[in-house]
Amino acid sequence: MPATDRRTILVTSALPYANGAPHLGHMVEAVQTDIWVRYQRLRGHQCLYICASDAHGTPIMLKARQEGVAPEQLIERVGAEQRRDFAGFDISFDNFHTTHSAENREVTEEVYARLVAGGHIRRETIRQSYDEQAGMFLPDRYVRGGCPRCGAADQYGDSCENCGATYSPADLVNPVSVLSGTPPVLRDSEHLFFRLADFEAMLREWTGSGRLQAAVAAKLDEWFDAGLRDWDISRDAPYFGFEIPGEPGKYFYVWLDAPIGYLGSFLQWCRRTGTDFARYWAPGSDAEVYHFIGKDIVYFHTLFWPAVLHGAGYRTPTSVYAHGFLTVNGQKMSKSRGTFIMASTWLEHLPAEYLRYYYASRLGPGVEDLDLNLDEFVSKVNADLVGKLVNIASRCAGFIARGSAGRLADQLPDPTLQAEFVGAADRIGAAYEARDFALAVREIMLLADRANHYIDQQKPWLMAKDPARAPAVQGVCTQGLELFRLLVLYLKPVLPRLAGAAERFLGIGDQHWTDATRSLAGRTIGTYEPLATRVDPAAVQALLAAAAGSLQPMGVPTAATAATAAAKPADAPAISIDDFTRVDLRIARIVSAEAVEGADKLLRLVVDLGDGRRTVYAGIRQAYAPDTLVGRLTVVVANLEPRKMRFGTSEGMVLAAGPGGSDIFLLSPDSGATPGMRVK
Ligand code: MSP
Ligand code: ZN
Repeated sequence: MPATDRRTILVTSALPYANGAPHLGHMVEAVQTDIWVRYQRLRGHQCLYICASDAHGTPIMLKARQEGVAPEQLIERVGAEQRRDFAGFDISFDNFHTTHSAENREVTEEVYARLVAGGHIRRETIRQSYDEQAGMFLPDRYVRGGCPRCGAADQYGDSCENCGATYSPADLVNPVSVLSGTPPVLRDSEHLFFRLADFEAMLREWTGSGRLQAAVAAKLDEWFDAGLRDWDISRDAPYFGFEIPGEPGKYFYVWLDAPIGYLGSFLQWCRRTGTDFARYWAPGSDAEVYHFIGKDIVYFHTLFWPAVLHGAGYRTPTSVYAHGFLTVNGQKMSKSRGTFIMASTWLEHLPAEYLRYYYASRLGPGVEDLDLNLDEFVSKVNADLVGKLVNIASRCAGFIARGSAGRLADQLPDPTLQAEFVGAADRIGAAYEARDFALAVREIMLLADRANHYIDQQKPWLMAKDPARAPAVQGVCTQGLELFRLLVLYLKPVLPRLAGAAERFLGIGDQHWTDATRSLAGRTIGTYEPLATRVDPAAVQALLAAAAGSLQPMGVPTAATAATAAAKPADAPAISIDDFTRVDLRIARIVSAEAVEGADKLLRLVVDLGDGRRTVYAGIRQAYAPDTLVGRLTVVVANLEPRKMRFGTSEGMVLAAGPGGSDIFLLSPDSGATPGMRVK
């Protein structure tokens, strides 16, 4: 490629919150971005992929408190989980940093200072819900109460899940703080606002220049029509974030320093590698900058972010690409249906590349949601990757190994077919470039059908019966492997591992896009080992069972977890994540157990919770003889209100599973647990 054609590209994925390890929804975005990035690199462009963990904000502060750790510890641990799981899916970040970093503080303070100097920050005293017991202002989602419009009970402070009304927490009927359960009071405090309206002309030009997806542009028109409102960028202590210089007790709102985290992470990379930061971010730079995001955070990325960049003297992004949300088997991911699948759970049961392939086959350039239908997943992977793609290599490799000691023919019997495959590169490349991966995969699989058809017609297994036709067998199978090489090259952005293994088998180096026209003629290939194996539907069942069994709470009401909480389980009404986190689950040691006179199901247990003993009545007498229980560890609900029963007062509840009667199984922790430990 001539040097002038080499593009300089910087790509980001949205920074996942550091409150939990990635799930399969996060992987949609990471896989989409990674395929695009790998495609650009395959074309020989300079393409950097930058991300970070989004570490600040109230939910992370509170989750850390709940766990009894410092927020720095929480974000460190989750950051490590994020790195591990993204690596497990072969996401090829050049840098994965954190927004809680020296670099990000530096850039954030600089951006803020420039916005102040430009007159784009103003002050205003606002009235907000305040939890006197918890001693803090409450984000809207931390106030719940009756919907002022339809009366539905227990709704969030910003919108009603029943009727869709939006309002402010002060409008709720009988509002309570989810932190303390007490009614919030209204309190005044001075906040800092970013004057978004200053940037209307600039934003209209930026958004109107055809760079955005049609659906996103349409949404922006609505927002422009509604009028651009100034943006509250400060939060009062206590808050986990960067304190605002010159404003003691005030912190930058997480959504200010999160996108700036793209710059912070990139700055760290630049310093490490000696790269010129301004080469990418100075106004007028010819580097391309793309942000891949989910459709839920378009407002932040297409209004606030370009305006902040512009106001602070940086260039604006070339484009922002939004994708839809993942559903599993046609519905929102749901814990109770066992479809809330963590990335690490997937990796324990199935190869990452199979999900990459499935996502690719479902991803278009638009913002439509995409469904992971697990039956289709199994049949698609088995039909396409195993039945079509890898099958070509396995059908041809044996004849070459046996017939010509691994040596390929010097000439191809069907150069026209070869030219057709090489010629498809432009079409397939254009589909990748346009993020129409579904189209790219379709094109590639049509070619795979052609390759299989060619082998079916030539029937090398019949030719091989006649020793005189050995050169023809070698020719046909060389042709088959050449076609296979091209298919693998075209799929390389999606299946980097399989492509690497195929390159080793073919005895060729790291293929680039321009290698399409090269030839394998005369080479000696390695021994064929299966490059992909069929998915056993039992593995999918095991995945779902593991996902259903994982007790890992998400901890905070993000958009995704709120959606999960809203999905109703089959037989019990859904509770919010906040309800769940209010349940104090503890490990307890059973100190004594005795039958209760006159109650044939009950045992009276004395349990040791580490900090004291309690009496608990449990309906497990038909399943456990009292003396077999003494000394065992179990899980109890420690903060259940004491309940007066006929035989005495129960000061907690033991957790057990099973249909009842003699089929009850105490939930017992693994060894290593000690009384008093929190269960999460
Ligand atoms: N921290 C913010 C982003 C800050 S960017 C400066 C955030 N984090 S998130 O963890 O909630 O989401 C990270 C990305 O994953 C977002 O782009 C979001 O849209 C995407 N997804 C989260 N759940 C998803 C699905 N279920 N499906 C597809 N994408 C999803 O938002
Ligand atoms: Zn309502």
